Amino acid sequence: MAIVCKSSVEIEKMRRSGRIVRQVLDAVKEIVAPGVSTMDLERTAEKKIRELGAKPAFKGYYDYPCVLCTSVNQEVVHGIPSDARVLREGDIVSIDCGVVLDGYYGDSAITVPVGGSITPELQKLLDVTRESLYKGIEAACTGNTVGDVGAAVQQHVEAHGFSVVREFVGHGIGTRLHEEPQVPNYGVRGHGARLREGMVIAIEPMVNAGGPGVRVLDDKWTAVTEDGAPSAHFEHCVAVTKDGPVILTE
Ligand code: MF3
Ligand code: CO
Repeated sequence: MAIVCKSSVEIEKMRRSGRIVRQVLDAVKEIVAPGVSTMDLERTAEKKIRELGAKPAFKGYYDYPCVLCTSVNQEVVHGIPSDARVLREGDIVSIDCGVVLDGYYGDSAITVPVGGSITPELQKLLDVTRESLYKGIEAACTGNTVGDVGAAVQQHVEAHGFSVVREFVGHGIGTRLHEEPQVPNYGVRGHGARLREGMVIAIEPMVNAGGPGVRVLDDKWTAVTEDGAPSAHFEHCVAVTKDGPVILTE
């Protein structure tokens, strides 16, 4: 399957789904607090998605059971919301949401602190991961390559002593949640698929405070760090345009 470029009309539609994802994440972020369960986040998200007239993108995707992925502390991505998983002061939680509206997908993730007292080391992990996403976005210009995006993310992360996850990558997005190309958070400048006007990619650095290794739990979804160190995740959908990268999910 080749890389699909989008027309300006299609990108406008993706902006609408992107805006809904943002509104959902804002609503969920609002209720994050000690004592709240990840299933509470799920319920808030599902209600908001329906209210805004969209459909969840993750629920039913390869039989994934929920509208959100909620990944706490050493969980990297694809944590499944649960009533039993109650957030505690000092945790960090990644909230990843996808929706589809009028046939076009939006996908975005944030990682937020729980309560008011995360450690400086965790705050640095959140800051560096978010910054690395923006470094990747800046590199998403026509004429650059997917390797330029990955290299920009990787360089920022490793300069701060953290590591990028290799097993999961960003992706093209459009009329399907996952399209070509794959968008790794590591790479070599000038290598990989060339970025062209109309491409839309989801850039999603997953950054570990310790080593890069991850494994998947017996629930077949939840990816955790091999060494138990915390991990953060931020994601935006970005359109490659002749005027430079345009974030569709903010
Ligand atoms: N943002 C993630 C991704 O793009 C979430 C996918 S979860 C799944 O791959 F359930 F939909 F697989
Ligand atoms: Co994604």
